[in-house]
Amino acid sequence: MITAFQLAKIIFTGAGALEKVPETIKMQGLKKPLIVTDKGVVKVGLAKKVEDILTAAGIPYALYDETVPNPHEKNAADSYDLYTKEGCDCLIGLGGGSSMDAAKACGILATNGGPLGNFRGMGLLKADLPFYIAIPTTAGTGSESTCAAVITNAQEEHHWKMVILDGRLLPSVAIIDPLLMTGLPPAITASTGMDAMTHAIEAYISIGAMEYSNAMALGAIELIFKYLRRAVGNGNDIEAREKMAYAQTMAGIAFSNGGLGLVHSMAHPLSAFFNFPHGFANAVCLPTVLEYNKIVCREKMATIARLSGLTDLGPYPEDTAIEAVQRLNDDIGIPRTITGVAAQIGATADSKDIEAMSKDALEEVSTITTPRVPSLNDVIGLYNKCW
Ligand SMILES: [Fe+2]
Repeated sequence: MITAFQLAKIIFTGAGALEKVPETIKMQGLKKPLIVTDKGVVKVGLAKKVEDILTAAGIPYALYDETVPNPHEKNAADSYDLYTKEGCDCLIGLGGGSSMDAAKACGILATNGGPLGNFRGMGLLKADLPFYIAIPTTAGTGSESTCAAVITNAQEEHHWKMVILDGRLLPSVAIIDPLLMTGLPPAITASTGMDAMTHAIEAYISIGAMEYSNAMALGAIELIFKYLRRAVGNGNDIEAREKMAYAQTMAGIAFSNGGLGLVHSMAHPLSAFFNFPHGFANAVCLPTVLEYNKIVCREKMATIARLSGLTDLGPYPEDTAIEAVQRLNDDIGIPRTITGVAAQIGATADSKDIEAMSKDALEEVSTITTPRVPSLNDVIGLYNKCW
C-alpha cells in the first residue's frame, strides 16, 4: 500500500528555540505576522516574550488574543478581520491547541475563504495557507505537527466540533521550546499530557498506522509514561518538560499520519456539549475505550504495557496496559468519570445528551480509523460506562 508521511517543513526544537522566530520570518521575505493567542498566554507573559523578540528584530506585528478554549468559528472570523485590517502577511499561532488551531482557521479563511464548515472532513482545502509558525506553550495537542484543525461551529442550538484534516494545515515552521512550558499549572499539564498520550496510543492502534507513525507513537508513549508525572509534580523540572515537549510533537506527527480513534470521537462531543477541556475529555474515556478495543489489538496493547515501565506484565498484558493508563490518570489527578470531571471543572454534564453525543461521535472523522468498528449502541454503552 502506498502511504504519505508528512510533517512541518522545519521543527526547531530545544530550550531557547523561540529565538528562531525573527530569522524565520525574514528569510521568507515576510513583513508582518499576526500573532493568534489567548488571554491566558498574554497574562503569563509568554505573548510578550514573542512581541519583544519581534520588536528587537524590527518586525512589526498585530496581536489577536481573544481565542477561547475549544475555539469557535468567531475566533477565526475575528482574527481574519484583524489580519486583513492590519495588512499582515503571515501567522504565528502561540499557545495550546486552541490558539494554534484558531491560527490555522484564520489561515483557511485568508486563502480558501469560508465558511469553515465547507472544509470539514479530509483534504478539501483548495489553496495553501499563508506562511504559518506554530509555537506550542503546552505539551499536548501537537497541533504544531499535525494536518488537523478542530473548530466549534457557530450554530447555537447544536454545538459540534468541526474536524478539518488537510496536509495544507501543517505549519511551515514549528518551534518547540520547553522554556515556554515551565509555568503551566499541574491540572493543565495533566490534561494536555493525557491528550498527547491519547494521540500516541490511538495512532498506534489505528487501522491507519504505519511503521513511521508507529515509531513516533511508541517513542511518545514511553516518554509520557516516564515523564508526565514528574512534569505535573514539579513544573520546573526542565528535563521532564523537555521530554514532554518532544513527546507531544512526536505524538502529533504519529496521529497526523496514522489517524486517531474512538477516544477522540467521544471526547469532541464532551467538549462541544459541556465545554470539557480536550485533554480531560480524552483521559476520562481512554481506559474504557481501550477495554472495548482490546480484543482486536492484543499484541499492540502488550507493547504499550511494556512501555509503561512495568516488568511483570502478568498473563494478560492488554489488561496491564489499561491498568497502567488508569494508574497514570489517577496519579496526576484526573477523575475516573465524566461526572467527576464535570464536578472538578465546575461544568454540568447531563446524561440526556448521551444519545446525541453518540451520534456525533460516530460521524467523527477519527471513527474511520478506530480499530474496532463501533455501533451506536456500543458508543452509548461506552459513554454510560464512563459516566
Ligand atoms: Fe487530541
